[in-house]
Amino acid sequence: MIVHHFEEIDSTNEQAKREVAQGAIHETVIRADSQTAGKGRRGRTWESPKGCNLYFSLIVRPDIVPDKASMLTLVMALAVTNVLEEISEGKKATCKPKIKWPNDIVINGRKVCGILTELTLKEKAIDAVIIGVGINVGKQKFGPELTDKATDMETEWGIRLSCDELLGNIINAFRQYYTVFLQKGSFEDLQEEYNRLLINRGREVCVLEPSGEYRGIATGINEKGELHIRLPEGGETYIYAGEVSVRGIYGYV
Ligand code: BTN
Repeated sequence: MIVHHFEEIDSTNEQAKREVAQGAIHETVIRADSQTAGKGRRGRTWESPKGCNLYFSLIVRPDIVPDKASMLTLVMALAVTNVLEEISEGKKATCKPKIKWPNDIVINGRKVCGILTELTLKEKAIDAVIIGVGINVGKQKFGPELTDKATDMETEWGIRLSCDELLGNIINAFRQYYTVFLQKGSFEDLQEEYNRLLINRGREVCVLEPSGEYRGIATGINEKGELHIRLPEGGETYIYAGEVSVRGIYGYV
C-alpha cells in the first residue's frame, strides 16, 4: 500500500482521479488532514475541518464489470464497521457501530462515516475505482441541519482514536473482504456479515425513488447488494443503491 498524505487538498477523491490519470497503482491511498472541497453523495459537500477527522480515498483496479463497482462501497462499509466494532468491544463501548444501507456508518442513531465511490472508465471497462471515506473521529460542532443526524467517535465513546491506526486497520480489513468479494464477484459470502451489521434490518423504512416514496420493511441485502423490502400489501421488491435511498420512519435510521 502506498499512502500520499496531504495537509490540505480540495478533495481526496479528486486527487485520486488525478493520480489515476497518471497511472497510480492498485491500493494507492490519498489521505488529507483537511479538504477545501470535500464531496458527499448526491452532490452534497462533506465538511472537512482540520485536525480531528480521517479523510482518505483508496484506489483499486479490480477486474470486474462497471455495474458491480458500487458493491465495493458496501465492501468498504463492512471493513470500516468491522474495525469500529472491534474497537468498541475492546473499549467496552455500549453503542455499537451499524450500517445504514447502503453505506453510512452510524452510532447511536447518528452518522459517523460516509463513503463516496467514483469510477474511472477506459473503453467502457473499469480503469479504477476510487473509494472515498470520511470518518468523524474527534469532537466537533455540526451545523444546525446536521446536529440530529451526525456525530463523532469521541462524543459517542469518550475516546480520541488514532487516525493512523484507524486507516491501517481499515485497509487491512478492506483487503480481506475485497478478496472474498472478488472470488465470486458478488456479496454471496459477505451478505450474512453485512446483514448482521445492518441497522435497517427488520425496520420500517421510507424508500425515496426519483418517481416517489413508499414504505416497507427492510429485511437485508441479497448477493447483489440490493436491499430487500417487504411491502405492506404483501408484495416485495429489491432496491438498488444507485437509484434510491432509504430513510427511517422515526428519524435518520
Ligand atoms: C456521504 O455523503 O456520505 C459520502 C461522504 C464521503 C466523504 C469522503 S471524505 C474523503 C473523500 N473525499 C471526498 O471529497 N469525499 C470522500
